[in-house]
Amino acid sequence: MEIKDKMEALVKELNQHSYNYYVLAMPTIADYEFDKKLEELDKLEKEHPEFADPNSPTLKVGGDITKNFTTVPHRWPMLSLGNTYNEQDLRDFDDRIRKAIGDQFEYVCELKFDGLSISLTYENSKLIRAVTRGDGSKGDDVTTNIKTIRNIPHKLRNETIPPLFEIRGEIFMHRAAFDRLNKEREELGEIPYANPRNFAAGTVKMQDSKEVSKRPLDCFLYSLNTDKNYFKTHWESLQSLKEWGFNVCEHTKLSNSMDEVLSFIQYWEEARFKLSYEIDGIVIKVNSYAQQQELGFTAKSPRWAISYKYKAQEVETILEKVTYQVGRTGAVTPVANLKPVQLAGTTVKRATLHNANEIERLDLHEGDSVFVEKGGEIIPKIINVNLDKRKAGAVKVNYPTLCPECHTGLIRKEGEVAFYCPNDEACPPQIVGKIQHFISRKAMNIDGLGDETIETFYQRGLVAHISDLYTLHEKSDQLKTLERFGERSIENMLKGIEQSKQMPFEKVLFGLGIRYVGETVARKLAVGTKDIDKLTSASLEELVAIDEIGQRIAESIIEYFGTPEHLQQINLLKAYGLQFEVIEKEITLESDKLTGKTFVISGVFENYSREELKEMIENNGGKILSGISAKLNYLVAGDNMGPSKLEKANKLNVPLISVDDLLELLK
Ligand code: IVH
Repeated sequence: MEIKDKMEALVKELNQHSYNYYVLAMPTIADYEFDKKLEELDKLEKEHPEFADPNSPTLKVGGDITKNFTTVPHRWPMLSLGNTYNEQDLRDFDDRIRKAIGDQFEYVCELKFDGLSISLTYENSKLIRAVTRGDGSKGDDVTTNIKTIRNIPHKLRNETIPPLFEIRGEIFMHRAAFDRLNKEREELGEIPYANPRNFAAGTVKMQDSKEVSKRPLDCFLYSLNTDKNYFKTHWESLQSLKEWGFNVCEHTKLSNSMDEVLSFIQYWEEARFKLSYEIDGIVIKVNSYAQQQELGFTAKSPRWAISYKYKAQEVETILEKVTYQVGRTGAVTPVANLKPVQLAGTTVKRATLHNANEIERLDLHEGDSVFVEKGGEIIPKIINVNLDKRKAGAVKVNYPTLCPECHTGLIRKEGEVAFYCPNDEACPPQIVGKIQHFISRKAMNIDGLGDETIETFYQRGLVAHISDLYTLHEKSDQLKTLERFGERSIENMLKGIEQSKQMPFEKVLFGLGIRYVGETVARKLAVGTKDIDKLTSASLEELVAIDEIGQRIAESIIEYFGTPEHLQQINLLKAYGLQFEVIEKEITLESDKLTGKTFVISGVFENYSREELKEMIENNGGKILSGISAKLNYLVAGDNMGPSKLEKANKLNVPLISVDDLLELLK
């Protein structure tokens, strides 16, 4: 290939990977590979500046901006860090610093958290804005979402705090939360996130802060920007940030030499797997602010700091066989069963293969010797195959065409990667999984019943459909013959089942396990249609008109209710007395102080949720309107209200009131 073509191809490829990483939060290349390609392009651009693209990724620090948020310029640009991968690179960095500022300096070593960076601005001790890195000079205003993170203070108490400052840190998700939430996504038939970083990034960019608040994010803060110098060193500023109430990581070290830095790096190489969150390296910063200033910046990164990236830990082992798991929604997931091997402190026996494409990509053959990686990710992954060790005549792994459990032909829907078993009424793991989902805590929350019991009941022929739970009381003789199932527990279980008939419609709807209908969607559907008959007869257009229901969800609902077996189940459940309509709460007015008055609530509020304010207004006779018009009496304005709303309200002379004003009206 011509040099020019090669450079063009690299620019195109890297830009696409950047877009996937920063904007879609779905990476398509390992960091290390990306850096190598970027380096290659950088080298070619230096050798052939005449072919360099003015939009080359070598000139950019981050990704793009996401469309749906307000774009805000950074007062201090959000730069990136140079990466190093070995001791020599670090010694070179150390030499460069010594040449520039002499031998009298210290380093601060910090963990490099694997999340997404955030810039928080505080004015007069109040959090006024939170912005993503974006392209480094401007990012997305995600304040409302960030305010849902518990350990980011909205207001600081300390008096000695500078009147205006910016603090930077990393938003991330703990492994345990990632595991739990990702499992839930998989159960709903949604595509799981590849790692906690992507989950955190995807969450911060969500449009609905209420959804964000349900996903536990965390944040470590690691740098301070102010107009004046309040501190002499970075270390001092970190100590103060802690005192001001910010979450600063405790695993931070002040070092006098590169040798000390290297031992910090060495220690965390192993110890990082014991942390509850993921790190992908170590950040090394020159401590003194004066020295940082002397060293300055290159176009994209500071000369006074660098990161050391850990290589993913890798080991070679034998692929014994590939097995296939059928989930509640019928998705068939391949799993690699490996010859047990030690990796990063644990014994690895299995690795995820995600889907059929992954088997193809790896061109897996039975008995292959494979490289397994446990990098950032929790579940080990097969990176590639050692072809030198492939035995002659090895059989290619072929993704099955029939369901491994019920032998029905598998199908793949357009635009999806997973294969499904369509036999949802008779495929054993799907039946058991669906009933287990129905009784689960977030759905019908049936006391006295557990996953194992459902499995046993199914095997004994006691249940084959959700509705069979409600005839169990007629089978107490059979129940009594079951091992470990005494009279007491039978009684408890039957009581739990009976009580579940009182669960609200939205829980029943969620419990049915319709693809893509999670808790929130179920609630929106219940509120939007009020009863099951309207829902089952709703057209696609009617469904997508409901808040948060998109084409994909609507299609799935129509498909579900188009199946006679599903309708039969619903009729049985109805007959047993389950709730299939929304029971409107009777509002008893606390007062009529707001009768005849209309309100719009906008922005975020320190002590009240929007829902609470809405309730307060309605309980006193007021009415909530959906948009600003000349008829509107009051706009209850919180922080970070959209500029267009504000403009409209001003134009139409709608009075803006605070929460305190509202409380005053109620007095
Ligand atoms: S300091 C001038 N400290 O790594 C750059 N960054 O590759 C100042 N990161 O964008 C960044 N942990 O998102 C710093 N302890 C830490 C960090 C950290 C993670 C991220 C951050 C930054 C990226 C640079």
